[in-house]
Amino acid sequence: MRFTIVFLFMLSALVACSDSKESSPAPLTLSSPNGALTFELSIDEFGRVHYRVSREGQPVIADSRLGFAFANADQFADGLTISGGAETESDLEWEQPWGERRVVRDHHRERLFSLSDGNRTIDLRVRLFDDGLGFRYEFPENFHPSELLITDEVTQFNLADPIATTFWNPAYNKDRYEYEYNKTPASDVLAAHTPVTAIDALGHHVTIHEAALIDYSSTVLRGNGQGGLKTELVAGFDGIRVRRTGAFATPWRTLQITDSATDLLASNLILNLNEPNQLGDVSWVKPGIYMGIWWGMHIGENSWATGETLGATTEEAKRYIDFIAEQGLDGFLVEGWNIGWDGDWIANADLFSFTEAQPFFDVEAVAAYAEERGVDLVLHNETSGGVQNYEVQMEDAYAMYQRLGVNHLKTGYVGFTNGYRRDDVYDERPVYEWNHGQWMVNHYQKSIELAAKYQIGINMHEPIKPTGLRRTFPNFMTREGVRGQEYNAWSEGNQPAHTTILPFTRMMAGPLDFTPGVFDVTFKGADSSERIRTTIAKQLALMVVLYSPLQMAADLPRNYAAKPDLFQFIKEVPADWEESIALSGEVGEFVVFARQERDSENWFIGGITNETARTSVIDLDFLDDGNYSATLYKDGSEANWQTNPYDAVIESITVTKDSSLTIDMAESGGFAISLIKN
Ligand code: NOJ
Ligand code: CA
Repeated sequence: MRFTIVFLFMLSALVACSDSKESSPAPLTLSSPNGALTFELSIDEFGRVHYRVSREGQPVIADSRLGFAFANADQFADGLTISGGAETESDLEWEQPWGERRVVRDHHRERLFSLSDGNRTIDLRVRLFDDGLGFRYEFPENFHPSELLITDEVTQFNLADPIATTFWNPAYNKDRYEYEYNKTPASDVLAAHTPVTAIDALGHHVTIHEAALIDYSSTVLRGNGQGGLKTELVAGFDGIRVRRTGAFATPWRTLQITDSATDLLASNLILNLNEPNQLGDVSWVKPGIYMGIWWGMHIGENSWATGETLGATTEEAKRYIDFIAEQGLDGFLVEGWNIGWDGDWIANADLFSFTEAQPFFDVEAVAAYAEERGVDLVLHNETSGGVQNYEVQMEDAYAMYQRLGVNHLKTGYVGFTNGYRRDDVYDERPVYEWNHGQWMVNHYQKSIELAAKYQIGINMHEPIKPTGLRRTFPNFMTREGVRGQEYNAWSEGNQPAHTTILPFTRMMAGPLDFTPGVFDVTFKGADSSERIRTTIAKQLALMVVLYSPLQMAADLPRNYAAKPDLFQFIKEVPADWEESIALSGEVGEFVVFARQERDSENWFIGGITNETARTSVIDLDFLDDGNYSATLYKDGSEANWQTNPYDAVIESITVTKDSSLTIDMAESGGFAISLIKN
């Protein structure tokens, strides 16, 4: 990773000297570099620590408490004093090896506060950026003599506007993060996975999440019925929420606070709060567009199990590889290639082998063929949540994949959200963990670090939510953790607004493997309710809107071959970007992204709308000088997701940075544009 340090200096004017600590009871404050955001810390008559946040003097987060409770130590939540250390400012740029933008600016002010109960101290590190803030607790080595058992992290996020419109994903439900988002007043939030995004009466857009989730349990936000949200760490099997020994820091608690929806999308705060790349040269981590033996299973044409409709055969794999090579795409995913799919593969998690192929799939031959044709093979490891069965095989499997030249792996953890079995606790019976608890967080991390050793990039399904660790471990490329396209294949499906909510919620956490780009949106016939509730142009737009460094073109080759003119966009669109700009958008309504291809002067634009038809006006002033050949893939005048999803028009024009485009989007429609520099 290359780092360009622009400047880094102590704000000596603001602080007389670092050993002159301010101490309570006067509020201790920190402001963002441009002064817009202010964080204030104070202590009440009971010695309880509170913080609050304002933007341009207006309250955004009202008094919210901090602190901890433990199973084996006195609580650390009242009887406290605070002191505040020196303030520093840092402004630097760093580069992503791959990403939605190459150069990331990290401009923040930081202050370290110390909380003390007289015997013990916890530091609170606070960083303010112009578009939000992060704070984390840092426990010193001597905080506790043995393993510390955290039963509660008190951290609250009390929205100043209790009825702020809030978009939230319900936590503790069987299918992990795979739900549509609720839109309610903040006061109606029950228990929510983060990111949670709220829009208050003053128009502030606030996303609450966490960064750098390592060896800790993930946060659920529990509503108090009055707009207050409290950190609820996901419990382990025994009710202990986090176990840690020695010095450690919690994940960063994050608040992105902007005046508009599009400013939220421009924020790099989550990445900036993560540590720099620890893997060194990661040129082996390769973004790209992939297809796969996959959608056929979900729509019921193929099976994972051996039998007449088995998807993963050597011949079918070669057919896919040929198609991908001919069309100039990058990767080929194969599911059902290994032993373990026959019978009830969810119940029989322990029968999966990750090194043995089933008899109809010659993995060595397919890997060799893919290499010969210049296609990246993406193997699949479905664990069905059989984590210990996976862990004993992981190293052999990853070593084998490296030997085969495979450097992309899709992993999967289908399982009931609190049904992740462990046999290592008691001899006589298993215990079960949550998908989002510390034990699983640590498993996911093990997989990433081991995969890095064998130069494998991971696309994780049923994962832990992203918290920006892709910066530190750039082989943690993409993941699901979302109600993806698969739900359109076999459930009541996703509503038109779903993908207009995701950029402002789930994507605030990081890339997602949604698997867009399905052309045959009525794959079970026009009258079936099993269908995709979009126009075909919106499917193209999602290739740009829903950022993933491994982006799937999810449909079957025959459906792409049938529409070569529209498929041209998928052939051209990249999955790695020099820059990304959210041109317009409102949460749950519409969004338009322009992205510049990495190492190129070409731009791609994707725009989508919810169930409301609307017109988008796009000023191309972000382009460089000169002419661009623009190809517009738009909804036709009769397009409508319900009655006419396939009505699309393609238009070719020449544009410059002075051009402006006016494009109509149908109900649940959209558009995609390629801008190729002449
Ligand atoms: C769920 C994953 O999200 C999907 O992509 C995969 O095909 C199935 N599990 C089977 O592993
Ligand atoms: Ca899934």
